[in-house]
Amino acid sequence: MDPAALRAQFPVLDRLTYLNAGTCGPLPTPGVAAMAGALQAAAEHGRAADYFAQFLALADRQRAAYAALVGAQPTDVALTTSTSDGIVRVLHALALRRGDEILTAPDEHPGLLGPVAAARDRLGVTVRAVPFERLADEVGERTRLVACSHVSWRTGAVAPPALADLGDEVALLLDGAQGAGAVPVDTDALGCAFYAASGQKWLCGPVGTGFLYVAPRWRERLPPTGPTYLALADPASGLQASAHPDARGHDTPAIALEVLAAAAGAFVVLAEAGWDAVHSRGVHLAEALAVELRSRGRRVAPRGPTTLVAFEDPDPPTTKARLAAQGIAIRDLPGTPYLRASVGAWNDETDLARLIAAL
Ligand SMILES: Cc1ncc(COP(=O)(O)O)c(C=O)c1O
Repeated sequence: MDPAALRAQFPVLDRLTYLNAGTCGPLPTPGVAAMAGALQAAAEHGRAADYFAQFLALADRQRAAYAALVGAQPTDVALTTSTSDGIVRVLHALALRRGDEILTAPDEHPGLLGPVAAARDRLGVTVRAVPFERLADEVGERTRLVACSHVSWRTGAVAPPALADLGDEVALLLDGAQGAGAVPVDTDALGCAFYAASGQKWLCGPVGTGFLYVAPRWRERLPPTGPTYLALADPASGLQASAHPDARGHDTPAIALEVLAAAAGAFVVLAEAGWDAVHSRGVHLAEALAVELRSRGRRVAPRGPTTLVAFEDPDPPTTKARLAAQGIAIRDLPGTPYLRASVGAWNDETDLARLIAAL
C-alpha cells in the first residue's frame, strides 16, 4: 500500500486533522464523484428503466463487496441504512418471548440499547446488562440473545472471543459499527448469528448505508418483518409474494442509486489499497497514539487491537471544542471522562503529532 496515495484521495485531510471516522469516515474523491455523476445522469436522462437497471446491478455489486469483507456469501447480506437499522430488524424478527433473556453490556451504543429496551418492553423479555468483558461468562440458561459490540465505541475493546462458542440456541448479535472496515471481520470465526454494520464510518461511504449479515443457520429463525419490493423474491405476485429466502429478505425498502454509487466508489478506494494493509495500518497508528498518550501521562481506556483510542481528559467537551477551533476533529463521549480519537489508514504520523501537540 502507498499510504500517501491513499491519503491523497481524502480532501478533508488537506484541511483538517481528521480523527473522527468512528462517527463518520472521511469521504474519498472517487466516491463523491460517483455520487455526483449518478445524480447528474439522473437529472439529464431521468429515472426510468435504465436508472433501475443500474441500481439493481450496483446493489448486487455492493452486497457482494460487503459479503467478501466479512467472509460471507452475498445471500447472507442485507443492504441496510445503518448499523441501527440492522439491529432493529433483528430485534423485531427474532422470536423472543416472556421468560427469555437478552444479555448485553451497560456501555453499548444507544443504537443497540434502544432496540433492546424496546424489545424488553414490547415482549416482556428480561434484559441483563453485565460488564462487556464478562459477557461470555454470564450467559445463563434463559439467555437467548447476546447483543453487544464487536468493538466497543467507548474504549476500542474487542468482544470476548469465547462468545464464538454459544451453541445453536443462543444468538450472538454483534454491533459492528466500529468493526467493519476498521479491523478484520470473519463472521464464521466470530460465531455470530447477526453482524450489523455501518457504511458511513470505516467504509467511508455516505450516511444512509450499511449492511446486516445473517448466518445461514439463523435464516429460518429470522423471518423478515417487512419485506417490500426489493426484498421480495417475486414482487409481482401480490399477496402470494414471498421474501427472498436468505438475508436479502431484510433489505431496506429504499436506498438511492446515487447513495450506493458513493458507497461503492469509497469501497473500491479502500479495497484497492488492500484490506489487510488498511486494517493493519489503522490499528498500528492507533496503538502508536495510545503509547504516546500514555507516555505523556494520559490515562487511556483499556483497548484492544482496534482503531479507537479513548483517553481521559479533565473537561472533554471543552477540549473537543478547543481542538476543533484548531482544525482537529475528535469527539467526546458524553457521560464518560473520555475524548476519543479514531485513527484510520488514511491518517499519518503528522495527524497524531498535531493532536498530541494541541493537547
Ligand atoms: C458501536 C456503535 N453502534 C451503533 C452506532 C450507530 O451507527 P449507525 O448510525 O450506523 O446506526 C454507532 C455510531 O456511532 C456505534 O459507534
